[in-house]
Amino acid sequence: MGRQRIRFELNGERREMDVEADRLLLDLLREDLQLTGTKEGCRVGICGTCTVMVDGRPMSSCLYPAAYADGTKVTTIEGIARGGELTALQRAFIEHGGFQCGICTPGQIVSATALLAERPKPTDDEIREWMMGNLCRCTGYFGIVRASRAAADGGGGGRRVRGLTGPATSAPLRGTGAA
Ligand code: FES
Ligand code: FES
Repeated sequence: MGRQRIRFELNGERREMDVEADRLLLDLLREDLQLTGTKEGCRVGICGTCTVMVDGRPMSSCLYPAAYADGTKVTTIEGIARGGELTALQRAFIEHGGFQCGICTPGQIVSATALLAERPKPTDDEIREWMMGNLCRCTGYFGIVRASRAAADGGGGGRRVRGLTGPATSAPLRGTGAA
């Protein structure tokens, strides 16, 4: 397999690197760049734990060739809160029980962040539909929907909240929320 030089923006920083043609974005992030906030689950595009944003849209990084990131802006869970400031959505996940074991949480937060950026006042049904590509085996989804609802009602889904640090945590095309 040949290598390809890619240039992209990762969490606000310009990056330039050579990648194998068959390298997946998930592996590039976790193994080459040590951004382990993005979790590996099913690796076949079903569970949503590996969700990152590419140009603002949620993608399964386990199916996304790293070479396709050339010229894009990639946001991982590490790029959601910066400088010790949680977003209102991240805080709402904490306050409303949006996670338990936490393995799905990075993907949930990235997906919900993309939702609130595209649709600031979603209905509960719209939240559920958008998030259907992010599976959770712990919460029963109630806390996730409550947290997303609270962040939307507060008008601050992507807004950062000073003085808080996030949980240790942090989809091809998933613009509709479906994997
Ligand atoms: S690891 Fe499950 S969708 Fe990517
Ligand atoms: S919090 Fe455990 S799988 Fe979602």
